[in-house]
Amino acid sequence: MIRGMAKLPKTKRIGILTAGGDSPGLNAAIRGVGKTCLGFYGMEIIGFRDGFRGLVENHRLKLDKSTLAGILTVGGTILGTSRDKPHRMVIDGRTRDMTETIVENYDKWGLDCIVCLGGGGTQKNALRLHQAGLNVITLPKTIDNDVAMTDATFGYATAMDIATETIDRLHSTAHSHHRIIVAEIMGHRAGWLTLGSGIAGGADVILIPEIPYDVEKISEAIKLRSKHGTNFSIVAVAEGAMSRDDARSLQAGEKKLERAKTLHDKKEAKMELASLEVRHQGNTLRLAKQLEELTHLESRVTILGYVQRGGTPSAADRILATRLGSACGDLIHEEVFGVMVAARGDGTEPVPLDKVAGKRKVVPPDHSWIQTARHVGTCLGE
Ligand code: F6P
Repeated sequence: MIRGMAKLPKTKRIGILTAGGDSPGLNAAIRGVGKTCLGFYGMEIIGFRDGFRGLVENHRLKLDKSTLAGILTVGGTILGTSRDKPHRMVIDGRTRDMTETIVENYDKWGLDCIVCLGGGGTQKNALRLHQAGLNVITLPKTIDNDVAMTDATFGYATAMDIATETIDRLHSTAHSHHRIIVAEIMGHRAGWLTLGSGIAGGADVILIPEIPYDVEKISEAIKLRSKHGTNFSIVAVAEGAMSRDDARSLQAGEKKLERAKTLHDKKEAKMELASLEVRHQGNTLRLAKQLEELTHLESRVTILGYVQRGGTPSAADRILATRLGSACGDLIHEEVFGVMVAARGDGTEPVPLDKVAGKRKVVPPDHSWIQTARHVGTCLGE
């Protein structure tokens, strides 16, 4: 160092990755973090490809002004994603704990922080890396809106628009053919997407995981509609919704697993849960068939699937992702780590990762949307 010259502060270098299922708004968030860190604070930023695997295998994407340009409106993620977990990653056909490799690579690249964009699983994985000594910040993304401690996740608003438009479109064909159309909507084990789009699209029946259903009650509601001259119905069913019997079996299975002491008991309980999961896969088709038999109305099924995750983000998601991304840049500048940037009202709030990881935000039984649906005469299968 030349005598008399002040030591310049080191330019911060951050890594960023996207993990879990993709969702609209990921690129808007990458851009929000990137532009704030690069342009506003003068940091360096490295993108890691395909979730946590990129950090293990050193697959990178240089993020600069030109890579960040023009991605605000683009669906998916320019970084690629995967459901790989740092502590249980399949490498050359073997499942291995790669946490140490990630820590080594973090040091090798001289990172000051790693930003992980993801849903519930990513929050858990990020906490593990934070506990392993890394500076980590997460952003909440998922179309399911089931991440704890944040008002909303980006991707949800767009998926809700898509599901609502689908329900709108199903109305005219169901009406013309005097049919029941059962529309299966994503959401994992939470009913946010189905309840929101079901209310917005005016579904006649809304079935969510939080309220196990009785198929007889649904058929009664549909028959009552027919009696009053409306011989078609739209049933919005969440992929995780179940009948009361199935919900009871699931609960019993989960309790059995919790109580299992020996390896043999654990294996048996896990097998029972797996068979319930397999049975659940045909749930929507089974429900449509049951309703056809009970109501004597022809029934059809529409599974919305990945259409809900693809394509350009809505304006609401672009704003949410951008403001979470830019707040993330501020937190890195202030060296606040080990947190998720939560959406809180019009602002944001850093929430410690151990308060978020392992928790799922489901629709509370007293949520106002449930009451709203009941008030407008929607059958919730109760
Ligand atoms: O978590 C988002 C989500 O789209 C869920 O709604 C759905 O259950 C799941 O991902 C599908 O996962 P995958 O992309 O692994 O098939």
